[in-house]
Amino acid sequence: MGNSVGTGKQRALVIASVFVTTLWNLRFFLNLSKGSGEGSKPREPLVILVWEWPSKQVPSISRDVCQELYSITGCQLTTEKQLLHQANVVVFPHSRLQPGRDKLPKEKLPGQNWVWVSLESPSNTRALAEWNQTFNWVMTYRQDSDIFIPYGKLVPNRSATVNIPAKTNLVSWVISNYHRTQKRAEVYKNLSRYLHVNVYGKANNKPLCKECLLPTVSKSKFYLAFENSIHRDYITEKLWRNSLLAGTVPVVLGPPRANYEQFVPADSFIHVNDFDSLEELATFLKTMNSSRYQQFFAWQKRFSVKLYTDWRERICSICAAYPLLPHGHLYPDLQSWFNS
Ligand SMILES: *[C@@H]1O[C@H](CO)[C@@H](O)[C@H](O)[C@H]1NC(C)=O
Ligand SMILES: *[C@@H]1O[C@H](CO)[C@@H](O)[C@H](O)[C@H]1NC(C)=O
Ligand SMILES: *[C@@H]1O[C@H](CO)[C@@H](O)[C@H](O)[C@H]1NC(C)=O
Ligand SMILES: *[C@@H]1O[C@H](CO)[C@@H](O)[C@H](O)[C@H]1NC(C)=O
Repeated sequence: MGNSVGTGKQRALVIASVFVTTLWNLRFFLNLSKGSGEGSKPREPLVILVWEWPSKQVPSISRDVCQELYSITGCQLTTEKQLLHQANVVVFPHSRLQPGRDKLPKEKLPGQNWVWVSLESPSNTRALAEWNQTFNWVMTYRQDSDIFIPYGKLVPNRSATVNIPAKTNLVSWVISNYHRTQKRAEVYKNLSRYLHVNVYGKANNKPLCKECLLPTVSKSKFYLAFENSIHRDYITEKLWRNSLLAGTVPVVLGPPRANYEQFVPADSFIHVNDFDSLEELATFLKTMNSSRYQQFFAWQKRFSVKLYTDWRERICSICAAYPLLPHGHLYPDLQSWFNS
């Protein structure tokens, strides 16, 4: 009996303590929901300072641009250098880091993360050796970047349909920087001995206006998606926009086929390396029948092309990635990383 009284007392104690704890928690919860009280401040937005805007034309950047345009919350984007001391992340586009241009801030706040940004390939990236032990994260077209920023991607689309534009010629190529020493120039020169290539762009004195590009190249059955240099993952708008979005079949020159197949279906493109000679490639293109040609568009039944062109979208993606990024690590040798 004494025992049961004891048990009853213990039970009452337990109930009372649960009640008190609940009240205590409730008080805390009520405070929290009011946004007052200790330890209950609403989470501060991440401040991302873009030290120099990566493109020449600076778009409008409101504080809440990431939420307004891309529904990414908790992020404040700015280009105002005086906010350096509040910035959680500072973004440095390589194209604006060249010697003689704006330099880095003199000091780096503890816990602040600096991001090195580049969409150019190592062949077109100078003076990387200066930046040992400087950057926490890299943001490039390389898949193994901390923040991966491809030029484009295929997105699944249940309502997608095949749509092949009408064709009036065989092959086209848009080229603005032609250098005889580039691999793509040599391949073009050899290939054009076997078939006619419609060449547009500054290099050929036939520049295409922005709005003319897609309607023009879409009239060709094939497009020479030749990269300016050959590097892992370096697959640019020549594939995504000028070929796939335009509705023409890409003939690619770039990293190996297996690398392309990490981005697009194997049957959506032709690789220069698929052939023993450029004469064979030319014959393949010239003699292709229409049923074979249409097979290259099978991807259009399942996917749409998503282009990334707006730097605001790329920079806002840092916020979404932030919680998963490593903290406290610096790239000891950026040059070796980028050239690997
Ligand atoms: C999906 O495909 C349809 C039909 O082609 C197109 O109108 C729509 O914009 C596509 N959706 C996306 C997200 O690309
Ligand atoms: C282009 O043609 C030249 C001369 O026939 C040849 O030496 C060279 O290997 C060819 N290059 C390619 C990439 O096919
Ligand atoms: C079209 O070309 C493919 C591949 O060369 C061939 O297998 C097929 O028989 C051809 N179809 C017709 C209708 O000629
Ligand atoms: C950067 O680091 C690499 C590898 O440790 C070293 O070879 C190179 O000299 C360093 N560069 C500078 C400018 O210190």
